[in-house]
Amino acid sequence: MKTLIINGSPRKNGDTVSLIKKLTEQLNGEYKIVDAYYSDISACIDCRYCRSNDGCSINDEMTEVYDYIADCDNVVIASPIYFSQPTGKLLDVCSRFQTYFAQKHFRGKSPSIKPKKGAIILVGGGDGNPQKAYETLCGILKHINVKDVYELVGSFSTNEISVKYDERALEKVKSLAVFLNS
Ligand SMILES: Cc1cc2nc3c(=O)[nH]c(=O)nc-3n(C[C@H](O)[C@H](O)[C@H](O)COP(=O)(O)O)c2cc1C
Repeated sequence: MKTLIINGSPRKNGDTVSLIKKLTEQLNGEYKIVDAYYSDISACIDCRYCRSNDGCSINDEMTEVYDYIADCDNVVIASPIYFSQPTGKLLDVCSRFQTYFAQKHFRGKSPSIKPKKGAIILVGGGDGNPQKAYETLCGILKHINVKDVYELVGSFSTNEISVKYDERALEKVKSLAVFLNS
């Protein structure tokens, strides 16, 4: 089993990373973590190369991510909530999924990627509703052939309680691992 995890947090030992670590401790198989803030992946520039060609005109670490997406079984997107949405850097990485949209809608080709299970992990300080960010990311997961998205997992009062002590969030991560492993 192969799982791609996209981390949208800039904090190397922050709340998102804590939940990702809890998840990977319980995941079967191999996984690859893409750090939106620290990898060499730039945003889509709408050059429209992918409207007539496979792949992407930008040659950066996203090439490895495209290869992984082709045959991985699960994709997990994890992010802090910024202004009720996933972080901008995370959306930059996800903007590169435009190639799959173009493949289907402009060239009429089915995406050459394995159907997957998906999940979204969000954390928030407490002054925002995670629903908008969840819906944004559900829409993004559809572009990469995710057929089955798990219910929202996360911790939404991190200003008050660290995720490490948020028992409900930790239990949900456990259930998420069972879903992805099955
Ligand atoms: C620019 C910015 C915007 C934020 N906006 C929200 C928000 O809309 N809702 C919320 O609940 N928390 C918001 N937060 C708080 C973070 O989501 C929270 O601190 C989170 O636990 C950080 O996760 P991390 O440690 O994984 O980076 C914001 C934080 C920053 C820096």
